[in-house]
Amino acid sequence: KQLVGLVGWRGMVGSVLMDRMQAEGDFELIEPVFFSTSNAGGKAPAMARAHPQLKDANDVAELAKCDIVITCQGGDWTKEMFPKLRASGWQGHWIDAASALRMEDDAVIVLDPVNEGLIQKKLAAGGKNWIGGNCTNSILLMGLAGLFKANLVEWVSSMTYQAASGGGANHMRELLKGMGVIHGAVADALATPASAILDIDRKVAQTIRGEVPTEFFGAPLAGGLIPWIDSQLDNGQSKEEWKGQAEVNKILGTGSPVPVDGLCVRIGAMRCHSLALTLKLKKDLPLAEIESLIKGGNPWVKFVANERALTVQELTPASITGGLEVGVGRVRKLNMGPEYVSAFVIGDQLLWGAAEPLRRMLRILLA
Ligand code: HSE
Repeated sequence: KQLVGLVGWRGMVGSVLMDRMQAEGDFELIEPVFFSTSNAGGKAPAMARAHPQLKDANDVAELAKCDIVITCQGGDWTKEMFPKLRASGWQGHWIDAASALRMEDDAVIVLDPVNEGLIQKKLAAGGKNWIGGNCTNSILLMGLAGLFKANLVEWVSSMTYQAASGGGANHMRELLKGMGVIHGAVADALATPASAILDIDRKVAQTIRGEVPTEFFGAPLAGGLIPWIDSQLDNGQSKEEWKGQAEVNKILGTGSPVPVDGLCVRIGAMRCHSLALTLKLKKDLPLAEIESLIKGGNPWVKFVANERALTVQELTPASITGGLEVGVGRVRKLNMGPEYVSAFVIGDQLLWGAAEPLRRMLRILLA
């Protein structure tokens, strides 16, 4: 069995990865060894029968014993340890959730239901660095793989509704605390049917402006939204918006890049990222054909017919959260012309957006 080092397995993405690996029996196929940046020598999880103690994640020699390293530790650790490990002559496979290495020439952004061909090609050519994509882009491509694979997309405008989990665990907590603070400020009035809604609203606005915690998001998210994600670039895009075109095309491995652009917005969902898309197709196809291509994109597409009752039940965070299905709906032709199509795509940011492509890459390496 291959020796697989796990780093950053205790964090949020790491914990989701561990759960999925257990659910799919991945640990039975490998010899796992758990690393820690802070608790080397501590007790490792029970799966690591042969290595009951945590190893030091900053020890190059220990990491170098692994055939495969999977890390959810974050970009800073990657930037620190990856070059040292490679410089030591280590030839193993590196599977990483962080964005640090994503755009390197020798890195493949892994999303095998969409780009298994590219993964296999790079593997055969000696590729060793396998990096998980940005969550929004992975969800977009999982939802619309059928159209991209058929090379039908001329361009995509992608307006996102991104959940708190994209920021991290602290951000999810901050969202919930904010919701509680707002409710607390008006709970008495809410319980009184005769109270005036505009008085309640005034108090809510005051609370959002003054009392809702903003330490992690930098602005109140509860009861609102934040129309900027990640840092500011010189061209007016946010870094998150820049990633759209760069990563989608790198994942697809397309010769002539498909333009992808739009605004990325943080909303008060817990862990489901959504995208409202405008697609310009390369030709005018009947709607039924477009739908059937989308449905056939991969087994995880949950296609929701463009009907009100179904949409409000099935195409929401309440329905999608915690599962591997990627919802795709609101598909219709737009007034702009017969090649212009809308779609709404929604997926769990921690599953296809983060953990799942990593464990599937491990399976590809073990095959
Ligand atoms: N950058 C994403 C977000 C998550 O903030 O939602 C990571 O892919």
